[in-house]
Amino acid sequence: MKYRKLRDIEVSAIGMGCMGFSHGYGEIPKEEESIRLIRKAYDLGCTLFDTAEAYGPYINEELVGKALKPFRDKVILTTKFVPVFQKGQEIPEGKLSKKGITNALNDSLKRLQTDYIDIYYEHRVPLESNVEEVAIWMGEFIKEGKIRAWGQSQSTVEQIRKAHAVTPLTAIQSEYSIMERMFEKDVIPTCKELNIGFVAFSPMASGFLSGKYDKNTQYKGDDVRRVITRFNPENVEKNQPLLDLLQTIADKKGITKAQLSLAWMLHKYPHVVPIPGMRKDERIIENLGASEVVLNDEEFNNIETELNKITIYGNRTDEDIHKLGTVKAMDLTN
Ligand SMILES: NC(=O)c1ccc[n+]([C@@H]2O[C@H](COP(=O)([O-])OP(=O)(O)OC[C@H]3O[C@@H](n4cnc5c(N)ncnc54)[C@H](OP(=O)(O)O)[C@@H]3O)[C@@H](O)[C@H]2O)c1
Repeated sequence: MKYRKLRDIEVSAIGMGCMGFSHGYGEIPKEEESIRLIRKAYDLGCTLFDTAEAYGPYINEELVGKALKPFRDKVILTTKFVPVFQKGQEIPEGKLSKKGITNALNDSLKRLQTDYIDIYYEHRVPLESNVEEVAIWMGEFIKEGKIRAWGQSQSTVEQIRKAHAVTPLTAIQSEYSIMERMFEKDVIPTCKELNIGFVAFSPMASGFLSGKYDKNTQYKGDDVRRVITRFNPENVEKNQPLLDLLQTIADKKGITKAQLSLAWMLHKYPHVVPIPGMRKDERIIENLGASEVVLNDEEFNNIETELNKITIYGNRTDEDIHKLGTVKAMDLTN
């Protein structure tokens, strides 16, 4: 495993996204199995683990806290608060108040069985919200020792610059993969300029880039692939040229498409750290193993040239994910 920095916090070059152990990808493993898999990632050198109060809600933080407890001080634990209320959190001041976030933070600390969070993210940053005010509170939490650093998820360049000027941000966590490159044009370069780390969520495009899912794969329960458009059967077919490109280069190097997808972003940017979700031994070994893959300039430039000729169909949006509620309700009536 190689290591890199999110601002001044050292992390493994590839982290583990823990959401899928409780939320978002259908059937979940038994608790003992999830704990075993999280600890396996640690044994393989992974030191960055990501969760959120929204995953479950709450139960993912409890699971991750339990799994990491024996070596809590050896890892970087990141969690997030959402700007809207979760079950049981309603207070007159509103969630985006000092009291609302303080309560959320104290509850996360309890569930995670820890007295500090390494990076505490604002899970979404509403356009109408006062980012400077939130940044002041985050600075106070840092002074109190409840968090070491803070970040935002899916924020705009303007929000990043405003917040960073008040209390420096350590990481932005937003969607990024060889299939979804929308933040290459502004957020990722801004992070580089300001020495902010960029943590790439859904770096495997929800598994698509592994090439192990096809247009006939069926998804159940709360699996987001039932509603995000890159998994429409027709888009899965239309996106085949991307998998073909990855396959050709991966074959030449004796690696997998999943590994090439991760190695590509590690090569492209020194401040980017992907956090794939993975719930099988062989996927953990495969994905974490990508940290050792080295691309030469010719290979990298070839990928970039070919990528620019490929059109990507479909994406993953919060609006589409909200449709999951309706799809799951239909399961019950069918
Ligand atoms: N900030 C945000 O708003 C936000 C949003 C989404 C996610 N996240 C964070 O980012 C993390 C990663 O996101 P994600 O779970 O969408 O990432 P992802 O790695 O792009 O997608 C995970 C899916 O891909 C599959 N997969 C991963 N590697 C594979 C491989 N080598 N071969 C075959 N299948 C593979 C996983 O399979 P199995 O798990 O079934 O093995 C899972 O179904 C989350 O866990 C969460 O911590 C944050």
